[in-house]
Amino acid sequence: MITKSWWFKPCRTTLHRFQISFFLAAAATALPVNLLAAPSTGEIREDIRQFQQFFLSRFPDVPLEAYQDGVNALPQYAQRRLGWELLLEFPPYESEMIAARDQWQAPLPSGGNLERCFVGKPPPTAYPYFFNGETHTIAGDINNCLLENGAGVLDGMSGEMARLVAAFKSPWSGQVMDIDFRSEEIRQLYKKGRQYFWAKRGQMNFSCANCHVHNAGNQLRGDVLSAALGHSTGYPAYSTTWSLDGNAMGTLHRRYAQCNALVGAAPLAAQSEEYIALEVYQAIMNSGVPIKVPSQRQ
Ligand code: HEC
Repeated sequence: MITKSWWFKPCRTTLHRFQISFFLAAAATALPVNLLAAPSTGEIREDIRQFQQFFLSRFPDVPLEAYQDGVNALPQYAQRRLGWELLLEFPPYESEMIAARDQWQAPLPSGGNLERCFVGKPPPTAYPYFFNGETHTIAGDINNCLLENGAGVLDGMSGEMARLVAAFKSPWSGQVMDIDFRSEEIRQLYKKGRQYFWAKRGQMNFSCANCHVHNAGNQLRGDVLSAALGHSTGYPAYSTTWSLDGNAMGTLHRRYAQCNALVGAAPLAAQSEEYIALEVYQAIMNSGVPIKVPSQRQ
């Protein structure tokens, strides 16, 4: 069973009194460094193993790659899955994707376009990544490209940003998530995202894990809760609920904001440091899960 404490490694050694005071003295000088220390790559690999194993044991009939379908992958959703598959025979996101691909190639004021900016960049399955002193997200690189080519930046919550991210990701559907977490910077963000994911917040005092780990597969007001494994691999998504306000495609950060609001916590801005950290953590937990973009969600 995964609990919030599984990543706090309890110290089982019994210490002699002398050793304790020695340790305390050493800790007093070493504390600031220890607090800042990022988890090692070995610790992260062990986190991935435990995290994935938890869901694979809890839902033994759901293979790793099926988690790309979000809640639709879970046995508790089996009855509704048929309706979802029927809907996908004429995917509601088709017209959004036509607009997305056009915009991906449309000339920007400088004459360049987004497609050209992304030549030579890593595949979407390697995002977020650290390079040249900076952590790169897809939405961040899109905005950099727009700025460099004389266009205005887009809000990461907007349907337009969601369409552009989907235009970049969709040709890579089926490829597995593979984040390079060797840099100190990515490991620091990982640590921050992991903390955010497991910490309780809002009027309901719920952590992301309370719903998407401990209660994955259970019902919440008529919704079945998805497993955190696979989170982000289907995003940007076309959501029937979002389509009601005329803005059907949404980014992962828009979904994060919605989940914050659900528990009575203040939603953060798209591309805020916390949401980027959360994206890093979730992307790493999904190592080996294939992406499926765009996708359809309720
Ligand atoms: C009170 C329960 C609750 C909490 C807490 C919660 N969510 Fe959700 N979340 C939902 C519901 C309901 C949905 C829609 C059904 C589903 O996919 O689980 C959802 C959907 C999602 C999705 C979309 C999954 C997909 O593939 O469509 C992501 C990603 C997500 N949540 C991440 C988070 C993160 C990160 C946090 C913590 C900041 C969080 N959630 C906190 C209830 C919750």
